[in-house]
Amino acid sequence: MGVQLSKRCALLAVALGVVLAAPAVIAADIGPLPALKYDKAKAELGKRLFFDMRLSGDAGIACSTCHDPANGFSSPTALSKGYPGNGHFRNAPSVINAGHKKVWMHDGRLGTSLNDVTREMITEDYIMNMDMRIMQERLKQDPVYVKMFKDAGYGEPSNGKVRKAIPEYLMSLTSKNVPFDKGTMSAAAKRGMKLFTGKAGCVQCHNGPLFTDQKAHNTGVPENFDVFLDPMNHQAFLAFAMFQGIENYMNLKRDPGYYNVTTDKADMGKFITPSLRELKYTAPYMHNGMVKTLEDVVVFYNNGGGEDSNKSSLLKPLGLSKGERSDLVAFLLSLSGDPLTGAEYVWQEPYPEEYEAIANWQKVRN
Ligand code: HEC
Ligand code: HEC
Repeated sequence: MGVQLSKRCALLAVALGVVLAAPAVIAADIGPLPALKYDKAKAELGKRLFFDMRLSGDAGIACSTCHDPANGFSSPTALSKGYPGNGHFRNAPSVINAGHKKVWMHDGRLGTSLNDVTREMITEDYIMNMDMRIMQERLKQDPVYVKMFKDAGYGEPSNGKVRKAIPEYLMSLTSKNVPFDKGTMSAAAKRGMKLFTGKAGCVQCHNGPLFTDQKAHNTGVPENFDVFLDPMNHQAFLAFAMFQGIENYMNLKRDPGYYNVTTDKADMGKFITPSLRELKYTAPYMHNGMVKTLEDVVVFYNNGGGEDSNKSSLLKPLGLSKGERSDLVAFLLSLSGDPLTGAEYVWQEPYPEEYEAIANWQKVRN
C-alpha cells in the first residue's frame, strides 16, 4: 500500500515536473515611464540638501558624494564610499528613477517610501552618521534654508521636512530623452530588443517600464572579497549585519542579500532586479560592482550567469553570437537618456562657511 502510494506520488511528480519545465511565457510589458508629479519649490530645497555636506555628522560627505551625478547618481567605484573612517560593502545604486520604485536597497529591505530611505541614509552610522536633531539645528543656522523651507510651504526647518523635501527632489530625477521611449532606436538596438524579449530571456526578470520585476533573484554574481579583506569595508558590513540581526555574521564571508529580509536560506544571495535605465552612466554593475562593462554583463548572461547552488533556474547558457551580443548591448544603451548633470539637477551655488552670531540665541525662534 505504502509502496503503491509513493509510486503514485512519483508519477504525479513527473507529470508536474513536465508542466513546470515547460517554458514560461512572459508577456513583455516594457514601455515609456509615466511622468512623476513633484513640487518645484520643494524639489529645489531637496536639491540643496542632497548636495550639502552639513547633513552628515562630521560635515564631510553629502548624498552626492556616493550618488555622483557624473556617474548617473551612482558610485563610480565597485564598492561605495562610506562615512569617513569606514568603507561600504555594496555599490551605491543610481537614484535616477528611484521615485518609480516600490522597493529599495539591493536586498529589498525598504519597501515603504523614499522618506524612509532618506532617513536611513542620513542616520545610518556607516553612511552619514547624523543625529537628526543636530541636523535640524544646523539648518536653522543658515538663513538660506530658513527662507527656502518657508517658500516651500514647510515652515521652519525640521528633520521631518528634510525627509519630505529630499524625496521631492528625487522625484525630479527621471530619465530624459531616451531613444527607447522616443522610438529613435538604431537598427542594432531594435535587433537587441528582440533578443531581450525573446531568445535571451532577459524580460523574464527585467520587465515593465523600469525593466525590473522588483523581485529578488540569485544570478550567481561572484562575491567582492574587498568587502571581507579590507577592514574599512568589513567594519561597515559588520555594523550592518549586526544591526540587521544576521546570525553568525562575524564568520559570514558572503553578502546574504534578500535572506536578510526573509531569513529563508533559499533566499541567500538573491538581490532585487535592478532597473536597466541609465546604464550608460552607472558602471560598474551589480550589487557589488563586480561586472565592469555592459559587454561583460552580456557575456555573464551568455554563460548562464555565475555559479551558485541557489542560482535561478531561469538562467541558462544562451549561445548568443558576437553580433547578437553587441545588438543586446546596443539595446541596453538605448535605455539611457541625457545626462542629468546641469544646474536643473545639480546644486551649484556655494554653501556658507560662516554664520553671523545670533544675539540672544536662547530666546530666538526662527
Ligand atoms: C556613504 C555613501 C552614501 C551616502 C552618503 C548616501 N548613500 Fe544612498 N545609498 C548608498 C548605498 C551603498 C546604497 C545601497 C545600500 C544597500 O543596498 O544596502 C544606497 C541606496 C540608496 C537608495 C536606494 C536606491 C535603490 O534603487 O534601491 C536611495 C534612494 C538613496 N540611497 C538615496 C540617498 C540619499 C537621499 C542620500 C542623502 C540623504 C544618500 N542616499 C546618501 C550609499 C550612500
Ligand atoms: C533571473 C532573473 C534575471 C534574468 C533572466 C536576467 N537578469 Fe539581469 N539582473 C537580475 C538581478 C537579480 C540582477 C542584480 C544582481 C546583483 O546585483 O547581484 C541583475 C543585474 C543586471 C544588470 C546590472 C544592472 C546594474 O545596474 O548593476 C544588467 C545590465 C542586467 N542584469 C541585464 C540583463 C540582461 C541583458 C539579461 C538577459 C540576457 C538579464 N539581465 C537577465 C535578474 C535577472
